[in-house]
Amino acid sequence: MMVLVPLESASIRPLVGRSEEIDQLAELLGLGAPVPASGAVLIAGDAGVGKSRLLAELRARFRDSDWRVLLGHCLDFGDSALPYLPFTEMFGRLTTDSPALAESVAKAHPGVSRLMPGMRRLIDPDEVQALRVERGDLIEAVHAALEQLAKAVPLLVVIEDVHWADQSTREMLSFLLSRQFVQPVSVVASYRSDDLHRRHPLRAAVAEWARLPGVTRLQLAPLSDVDVRTLVQIIHPAPLAELDLHAIVVRAEGNAFFAEELVAAAELGRRTLPDDLADLLLVRLDQLDEASSLAVRATSVAGRRVSHALLSRVVDLDDGALDAALRAAVERNVLVPVGVDSYAFRHALLAEAVYDDLLPGE
Ligand SMILES: Nc1ncnc2c1ncn2[C@@H]1O[C@H](COP(=O)(O)OP(=O)(O)OP(=O)(O)O)[C@@H](O)[C@H]1O
Ligand SMILES: [Mg+2]
Repeated sequence: MMVLVPLESASIRPLVGRSEEIDQLAELLGLGAPVPASGAVLIAGDAGVGKSRLLAELRARFRDSDWRVLLGHCLDFGDSALPYLPFTEMFGRLTTDSPALAESVAKAHPGVSRLMPGMRRLIDPDEVQALRVERGDLIEAVHAALEQLAKAVPLLVVIEDVHWADQSTREMLSFLLSRQFVQPVSVVASYRSDDLHRRHPLRAAVAEWARLPGVTRLQLAPLSDVDVRTLVQIIHPAPLAELDLHAIVVRAEGNAFFAEELVAAAELGRRTLPDDLADLLLVRLDQLDEASSLAVRATSVAGRRVSHALLSRVVDLDDGALDAALRAAVERNVLVPVGVDSYAFRHALLAEAVYDDLLPGE
């Protein structure tokens, strides 16, 4: 059967752990059911924890069970996001991989051809008017097109990185998650939960979606230390000194991306954080205002954890401003409150990255 998967899944390392999560996902999405059934899952997890790897494994499983997989990504375009981007990717790839099928879908639901740039010329000129579809009509057309595709084989729709979705994509998802499908159409969407600060537009959307019937939210936990150890041994088949291996496992805190980067750094004999890792971690800091950033930098000097009392002595902010600065750092998932009087970095590596980034005078 023709399936639609990206090349990226071809050359990945074996999956470590995650067998429970895979089984749970497959069940929630109707894969294991005697008759394929629809389901929807929102997968939340920290950056680098392994959402995409898990979804790649899931796609491979669904493909083996003769589901058609449609994959779309949201990208970080800031304020200039392209509307319906992941759906354009999905239907665009359908156009290239299965032109005849895409054409029949576009003919039956002309609105969808707006998401298939290559398909427009094939449409009857009389229907060109229909391309200037209203937003609501486009959303209905996508729903109907998925329904049509799923008549032949059950359909799994995978949308990655919804924390970057623009409003149009969130609206489309709201509709697909709330409107039932007659045919088996399952939807799984991933997002970085550590990106969802209080005013993040996805935050309210996810809260609503998770209350819809048939939609489940799963928080992808960090890997266990045993799994990280296995992962490190796969990445670095030549034996590492136990001390180095242990240090990587401890520093990675269950995050697969951190583990990969730390192994790469260890291979180069480096003790400081690799640039890619520091960049990923420090992006979070760029979102803070000057006062929060000051409080966070001061915290890094104390190590991973610091008391409020110590911070108020060393940070040049009055009590109210320091409280506000710390609250913003907590909302942005940089710091977490510990007990009643302290704050800690969410990851020890974040503390390291911030500390390494300090200027000599600071
Ligand atoms: N269980 C696992 N077994 C083997 N490798 C893994 C596992 N989980 C993640 N990885 C690897 O770790 C790296 C980071 O994982 P992945 O890209 O899936 O994270 P993510 O949660 O999607 O991050 P982001 O939020 O940045 O998209 C990848 O190279 C991936 O292949
Ligand atoms: Mg990912």
